[in-house]
Amino acid sequence: MIVTTETLFNHAYGNYAIGAYNINNLEQIMGLFRGNMDSKAPFIVQLSKGARGYTDKRMLEAMIRTADEIFPDAIFAVHLDHGDEETCYECIESGFYSSVMIDASAEEFDENIAITKRVVDAAHAKGVVVEAELGKLGGVEEHVSVDEADAKLTDPRQVEEFVQRSGCDSLACAIGTSHGAYKFTGSQGLHFDVIEDIAKLLPGFPMVMHGSSSVPPDEVQRINAAGGQLGGAKGVDETQISKASKMGVTKVNIDTDGRLVWCRVHRESFIESPENFDLRPPGKIFMAEYAKYIAHKSEVLGSAGQLENVREKL
Ligand code: G3H
Ligand code: 13P
Ligand code: ZN
Repeated sequence: MIVTTETLFNHAYGNYAIGAYNINNLEQIMGLFRGNMDSKAPFIVQLSKGARGYTDKRMLEAMIRTADEIFPDAIFAVHLDHGDEETCYECIESGFYSSVMIDASAEEFDENIAITKRVVDAAHAKGVVVEAELGKLGGVEEHVSVDEADAKLTDPRQVEEFVQRSGCDSLACAIGTSHGAYKFTGSQGLHFDVIEDIAKLLPGFPMVMHGSSSVPPDEVQRINAAGGQLGGAKGVDETQISKASKMGVTKVNIDTDGRLVWCRVHRESFIESPENFDLRPPGKIFMAEYAKYIAHKSEVLGSAGQLENVREKL
């Protein structure tokens, strides 16, 4: 059943977080639904502009609709990830997406608000909710001085005004993470002070953490042992993700980890069976391994076992 992210956030805020997973193909969709059903977790399926253009957006959307039929107990939101204004309108009009992200974070503060507000007005008129972004996500590297590092983070003092003027329903905050497999060069981590300050200023308002892959060291090691070259890959410590999930970080975005599982499974599979040229054997392993990863992540986020509790509130 497709619901809005608002429904999921209202239930989760302050206690646990909802996993938001980027999908691109059939195998990811099957593994994602299976993993969330195994762990009895509500979740968010998210599609980037790149994913929508990988084959044809109608193909992905049709597969999600079909997954909804195959897994009738699933409760999930369908979300546009990192949308521009035009793509947001397209998704809002489609009637399929329950949530869109307008990412105008590269714009100046006032322009970000103006663009976000236009999208919010169009979305709310159709019962769709909106995630916006304030601050600039990126690697906060060890060699960068504290002042420069802080300049990239979301300024909690701006959040209240941004939310009030734009009307957005949730906010992607830059709290020390970055996209991809190379997030940290040393022992850096999340900026809990920023999370705490935002939660104090806007109690109950859902924060979104992008760049939340944990880049499991075991996956990286296995990929490299099977011929990969991912030296220095590093993600967000899972204990930090769990902690943030109880502090108002209510949506946790994960893409890279799914790609790593895919890469490890396929590299190992073809090394172990060099005679194989059939896509189905590694595909089947991937679906099972991705489901296992998702079920584990539900435990980390605290969303495991929440499915029936959410259903009662619908
Ligand atoms: O935040 C970006 C996501 O990881 C999506 O990546 O644009 O390559 O699909 P993508
Ligand atoms: P990762 O690259 O850490 O998986 O982040 C994904 C993301 O933020 C999608 O919006
Ligand atoms: Zn992102």
